[in-house]
Formats: sequence, C-alpha cells, structure tokens
Amino acid sequence: MSYQNILSEFDNGVTTITINRPKKLNALNRDTIQELHTALTIADEEHETKVIIVTGSGEKAFVAGADISEFSDFDVSQGSRLAAKGQELLFDYIQNLGTPTIAAVNGFALGGGLELAMACHFRVASNNAKMGLPEVSLGVIPGYGGTQRLPQLVGKGRAMEMIMTAGMIDANQALQYGLVNHVKAQEELLDACKEIAQKIMRNSSVAIAKAIEAVNANYTDGVNGFEVEVEAFGACFGTEDFKEGTTAFLEKRKADFPGK
Ligand code: COA
Repeated sequence: MSYQNILSEFDNGVTTITINRPKKLNALNRDTIQELHTALTIADEEHETKVIIVTGSGEKAFVAGADISEFSDFDVSQGSRLAAKGQELLFDYIQNLGTPTIAAVNGFALGGGLELAMACHFRVASNNAKMGLPEVSLGVIPGYGGTQRLPQLVGKGRAMEMIMTAGMIDANQALQYGLVNHVKAQEELLDACKEIAQKIMRNSSVAIAKAIEAVNANYTDGVNGFEVEVEAFGACFGTEDFKEGTTAFLEKRKADFPGK
C-alpha cells in the first residue's frame, strides 16, 4: 500500500505509522485522516502486528492540529460533519482498535494532534514535546474528542484551564498530569516505545483486545463497564490463548500464545 501523507513500516511485531507532512508540522488534512484510517485498519487486521506506534515525522511536531486551511471557510453543517467524520474514521476508531496503540509524541501535539495522541491507548513523549488544545484561540472548540478525553485523562479542572487558556504544557507537566506515561530524550523515544511494545507482545493479544474493550466501556455512555468486563472475562475462557497461558503456567514454562 502506498501513501502520500503517511509512512507505515512493519518490524518485529510492531507497525509504526508516521504522519509525514513535516513542512506543515504534520497537520491533519482530510487525506491524511483517510490514509491513517486505512493504515490502522490494515495493521489491526494483520495477525503479525501486535502493537501499533503512531508518531510524526521530523523533530518538531507530532501533529500541530487539524489542517486549518481546509476548514477556515466552513459553515455550521460542514463544521459538524468535519468533527463527526474525523471521529468515525480516526479518533473513536483508534480508541476502539483491538491492537494496542501507543502515541510517540515527538514534538508539538496541538488541537487534533493532542486529540489523536489522547485517542491512542497511551502516550510516551519526547522531552521537547508541547501539548495543548488551542482551538478557542481560533474561535472554535476541540472537535475530535478533546473536550471528553482530556478531562478523562487529567481531570476536569486541569482540562478546563488548558482548553480555556489555549496554552501549551511541556512534557514534564504532561507527565505530572498523567497525560503521558513516560518522557524520553527525542532520539530514544521510538526505541522506548518499541521496548514497551515487546513487553506487551509477550502477552495474549486476544486477552489484550478484550481488556481494551472492557476499559473503554467505562468511558462509553449507557454501557455498564462491569457487565462488559464479565462478558469479556468469560469469552477469554473459550480462547486458545487462555488454554496456552494457563497450561504454560502449570507446566512452569513460558507461554507461546497463538493469538486466537
Ligand atoms: N494547520 C495548517 N497548517 C499548519 C498548522 C495547522 N494546524 N500548523 C502549522 N501549520 C503550517 C504553517 O502554516 C506553516 O506553513 P507555511 O510554511 O506554508 O506557512 C508550517 O506549518 C510551519 O508552521 P509555523 O507556524 O511557521 O511554525 P512555528 O514554529 O512558527 O510555530 C506552531 C509552530 C505549532 C506554534 C504553529 O504552527 C501553530 O500555532 N500552529 C497551529 C496550532 C493550532 O492552532 N492547532 C489547532 C488547530 S484546530
């Protein structure tokens, strides 16, 4: 598959998807969102991909937001469609992938860029990263889930302040807020994410997908997370991974999960 705006590379169980518009600080235009959707779908469906890493190309930006030049003349209904379509193709989509997805935040993650990082299952930042939701400075609000996911991750008061001031926080503040899990030197960022990916890969991919579903259920309106957990827990007992995991434990050997 060839892309214009992203790169997708597979190595050792990990698909790394790089948003590749460095001259525009990797801003998310319509085509980039569509290509990300395609690359994520392919990676999620490939049995060999156990973890997806999403990052930005260059040393300056993860993603500096939605591409402002594409929506500056939109009207009310076009604005609503933009947000709904983006969430369907990318932001809600990535959150609900069964394949663990790590955002390697390698620079500016602003607006749609921070929203993309927040839609990933967790985040690791480089020490030069800067994060914020500057939309109100443009006369609009975060529309790719930012008003929902930021308070979930950092708490309501901090989210309100970040959104209202349109300001940026640095990587260490993001770490303190719980917005990112780790901060690394930029040159070590991808290796650090790949190291975490290797730890994830030792475990059952089927159980991990069920765990993602159950955790996400806690944040889904009208869904009882405990009920989803009971259902998902039970379903694990019917998998080959469960048989292998428990048998390997009892036989005092390392599990070799078939991922089924
Ligand atoms: N949409 C479209 N283009 C963007 C963009 C965005 N969100 N963010 C950056 N770019 C483009 C700039 O227009 C510029 O293009 P040009 O060289 O053709 O003029 C290029 O990327 C480089 O950006 P520039 O502003 O010159 O870099 P900088 O180092 O001076 O500033 C930022 C970096 C991130 C502070 C600044 O680009 C910025 O504020 N971007 C917008 C952030 C934002 O509001 N995002 C939310 C959108 S909803």
